[in-house]
Amino acid sequence: MPECIGIARLMTNDVLAVETRPAAPADLPRIAALQALAFSPGRFARTAYRVREGAPELSPYCRVALVGDRLIAAVRMTPITIGGRPGALLLGPLAVDPELAGRGYARRLVAEVADAARAGGEALILLVGDMTYYGRLGFARVPPGQIRLPGPVDPARLLALEIEPGALEMFRGMVAARS
Ligand SMILES: CC(C)(COP(=O)(O)OP(=O)(O)OC[C@H]1O[C@@H](n2cnc3c(N)ncnc32)[C@H](O)[C@@H]1OP(=O)(O)O)[C@@H](O)C(=O)NCCC(=O)NCCS
Repeated sequence: MPECIGIARLMTNDVLAVETRPAAPADLPRIAALQALAFSPGRFARTAYRVREGAPELSPYCRVALVGDRLIAAVRMTPITIGGRPGALLLGPLAVDPELAGRGYARRLVAEVADAARAGGEALILLVGDMTYYGRLGFARVPPGQIRLPGPVDPARLLALEIEPGALEMFRGMVAARS
């Protein structure tokens, strides 16, 4: 059955059996395809990618959502240091199949990676994104100049979620991928 018919049928039923789990190496081609669908080609030029390109593509915190065998959402999480201090993760890219947007799948993945980060002893999740979206998920603006990335970033888009209460003020300086 062609994939589009499969999704149309699933959407008509309106109750999708969505399963989430940590991302596996075999998911990487489908994650790349999903990101190509969700993002414009200029995404690789963004500063956050400069951090990620020095890191393995998968960490134990990366997560995917599936309907049956179809991968419908994915979030990459890159362990980082900030000013040399471990305990933080860089969130992104976060992508949801455009056909299935607005159903809470991104919200669910972000909540789940936050839970996993807490269980893993991480203190902070950092990202570059829209405050209008991520603010609703608990993210707040990082005070300008406190945390730097290896390239230009609009300070209004540098956002953080404290996994450990009060963690943000402990992190200052340059972001780098953690090995
Ligand atoms: C942004 C994205 C991840 C949201 O996924 P989703 O599963 O549709 O999100 P949710 O269902 O959890 O939330 C949907 C809500 O967020 C809103 N929303 C989506 N993108 C938004 C944005 N950039 N700014 C403000 N609100 C936004 C929707 O309008 C919707 O609002 P509603 O609940 O009032 O109807 C998805 O649309 C996507 O993959 N976009 C392209 C890639 C991208 O921009 N990723 C994020 C940057 S890393």
